[in-house]
Amino acid sequence: MTITGCTLKDFAQILANLALYWGDERLAPLHHPTFIHEFGNTAYVIREDDTISGYLFGFLSQTEPVAYTHLIGVHPEHRRRGIGRQLYTHFIAYARSQGCIGIKAITSPGNSASIAFHRRLGMVLMGSPDVDGVPVVKDYAGPGKDRVVFYRSI
Ligand SMILES: CC(C)(COP(=O)(O)OP(=O)(O)OC[C@H]1O[C@@H](n2cnc3c(N)ncnc32)[C@H](O)[C@@H]1OP(=O)(O)O)[C@@H](O)C(=O)NCCC(=O)NCCS
Repeated sequence: MTITGCTLKDFAQILANLALYWGDERLAPLHHPTFIHEFGNTAYVIREDDTISGYLFGFLSQTEPVAYTHLIGVHPEHRRRGIGRQLYTHFIAYARSQGCIGIKAITSPGNSASIAFHRRLGMVLMGSPDVDGVPVVKDYAGPGKDRVVFYRSI
């Protein structure tokens, strides 16, 4: 499987199929075009024929030597085949080449698939257990908006 940079055509195809990757379109606002235009060197897709099997939009922090995964989505029919891991491996290799020493991502406490996936990638969950025992950083996204914060040295 080949990883390529996300083109505007790829981006349009992702936007047209958001519910496929995420179950609904609530995350549409997070698919900001800046990830293609300004952070295009860390926006990747894996394409199989006419299908985008998976994509990762990230960036390198400007305040610390850390890479940040903003979005990673894998087509439901292509999950559990190592596509998500491959996208992360590619991003980490680039981040290392740019001097980064860590990688970070966040998710909501209810996204158990994302938590399981990121744990398998060796990422640790920062913060303290919430009422369900999931480690979260309290108020990370504002008052009452706890988030699961993943981090791993690279
Ligand atoms: C989370 C997601 C990106 C994983 O992608 P994927 O291509 O299926 O993951 P991979 O096949 O590369 O799996 C990597 C590891 O994570 C594990 N894993 C992946 N999904 C898992 C799940 N739902 N439950 C438990 N383990 C899981 C795999 O077993 C694998 O472990 P191993 O390599 O040690 O055997 C995908 O399920 C997805 O797109 N979900 C919807 C969007 C989403 O929630 N994205 C994350 C937002 S932060």
